[in-house]
Amino acid sequence: MKTNYRPTWAEINLKNLWHNYSEAQKTVHPKTVIPVIKANAYGHGAIDVMKHLYDHGVRFFAVSLLEEALELRAIYKDIDILMMGPILAQDLAAASEHKIEITIYDEEIYQAVKSFKHWITVHLKIDTGMSRYGLTETNTIIKMVEELFQMEHVSFKGIYTHFATANENETFYHMQLNRFKEILHELSTLPPMIHISNSSSTFKYEKDYDFTTHVRLGISLYGLSLDDPKPDLKPVMSLKSKVVQIKELNAGDCVGYGATYCAKEKERIAILPIGYADGFIRKNKTGYVEINEKKYKIVGIICMDACFIKIDSDVNVGDIATLYGGLITIDEVAKRLNTISYEVCTSLSYRVPRIVIEGEKYDQS
Ligand SMILES: Cc1ncc(COP(=O)(O)O)c(C=O)c1O
Repeated sequence: MKTNYRPTWAEINLKNLWHNYSEAQKTVHPKTVIPVIKANAYGHGAIDVMKHLYDHGVRFFAVSLLEEALELRAIYKDIDILMMGPILAQDLAAASEHKIEITIYDEEIYQAVKSFKHWITVHLKIDTGMSRYGLTETNTIIKMVEELFQMEHVSFKGIYTHFATANENETFYHMQLNRFKEILHELSTLPPMIHISNSSSTFKYEKDYDFTTHVRLGISLYGLSLDDPKPDLKPVMSLKSKVVQIKELNAGDCVGYGATYCAKEKERIAILPIGYADGFIRKNKTGYVEINEKKYKIVGIICMDACFIKIDSDVNVGDIATLYGGLITIDEVAKRLNTISYEVCTSLSYRVPRIVIEGEKYDQS
């Protein structure tokens, strides 16, 4: 049955996704890249992303929420799933039943794990300076590590931290790194997995570490936020919409809510059926779209379901506009919106169908 009726969609290029994963894997070999597919794979569609990586042999995934973990587990029984976010004591049973690896990030959840009666796999998270989830006190960490190894119902699988910076502030990065190494040094036995790097740290530093076993790769899996040194990554998402109507304006005619944009002379306006309810937020009004390999300016105020583009005589009804991807990268859009690419791609709403392509263009006819 046809489920996509709208001429607005996001193309998810799985060939590029695999290219990006492989670039990271090459960089960290023989360690393993764990793809981070929380928040619907950063807006790209967690299930399709997972299935594609699974088909290429990837068997370890990381998410934030238990709901996200269970969604993956419903599809594959033979994958490892790390839940990086906080879990409530009352949900340990669900995590255990569905073999979700949980994160111990504070004393309370540690105690809940200790008194839990069923088999559970855990990773211990160390807060080395970000002041988000994780344990800070060296003595507490040493005691927990020793005890976790003794608990018969616990598989103590990993120890990790998360960096607040990698490119923006190298001093802070190294402070966190050194703190983590200091703690490892204090531990007499280590679990099988040690993982610290996110995307920037993976490409910038991971090859220098001989004490880690895995990296947790998020944004660069999707080809975004390319830092220095610039890895060879390719964007995975392009957001597209078709011109559904064209208005021929005379001088003085105005466009959209608030009539904020008025023509000074005869001009043409294309209407695209995409708006802020799709995650194409109102702040995009200062931006551009690409139609037939040319950039055109967005004008007027972006509506809930539509936006307006000032066009020339080359554009026709039915032409495809690319809002992100192609000439206009998500990184560039993020910069213009004074935010980060993470926010741009995760904000794309559920209303926009994600159409997977394996390198070729999607035929939206
Ligand atoms: C704990 C943890 N690890 C890894 C990642 C992946 O980070 P990045 O998307 O910068 O690669 C995230 C993302 O926020 C995270 O929260």
